[in-house]
Amino acid sequence: MQRREFIKTTCLTCAGTFAVSAFLAACKSSKYITNYTNENKKLSIKKSEFFVAEKGNQRSLKNILLKPAELQFPIVVYKLSDTEYKTIYMQCSHQGCELNAFETALVCPCHGAEFNNRGQVTQGPAENDLKTFVTTHDNENIYIQL
Ligand code: FES
Repeated sequence: MQRREFIKTTCLTCAGTFAVSAFLAACKSSKYITNYTNENKKLSIKKSEFFVAEKGNQRSLKNILLKPAELQFPIVVYKLSDTEYKTIYMQCSHQGCELNAFETALVCPCHGAEFNNRGQVTQGPAENDLKTFVTTHDNENIYIQL
């Protein structure tokens, strides 16, 4: 490989890496909640947890994270619509690493598997979908059966 070609290839790779990293960082949810109840492994979360105040405005989140004491890994609750929520266990179905949750996907830092916000595999090496939990809701709360 010629020096010029090497530099060009390397720079494009770096630029791509930074662009993807910036995109994912911008989309990554960082809101862990601790304000929920847990009665007989049935979690109850206020729907208002999906809103954050920013500069005087309310912003709606696509997901929230929590770590119930009885689970080894956190769970992520995705708001798919006003009437549909999906709760996903954040353990990779490939070899068990903890996943990173983004606005519309989960990504494994170990070998790069990706899953959509329903827990379905979209990119290997994982072959199986993620564990999910039965999730219901009423006007005020979301209920998750662990
Ligand atoms: S443990 Fe997640 S891709 Fe291998």
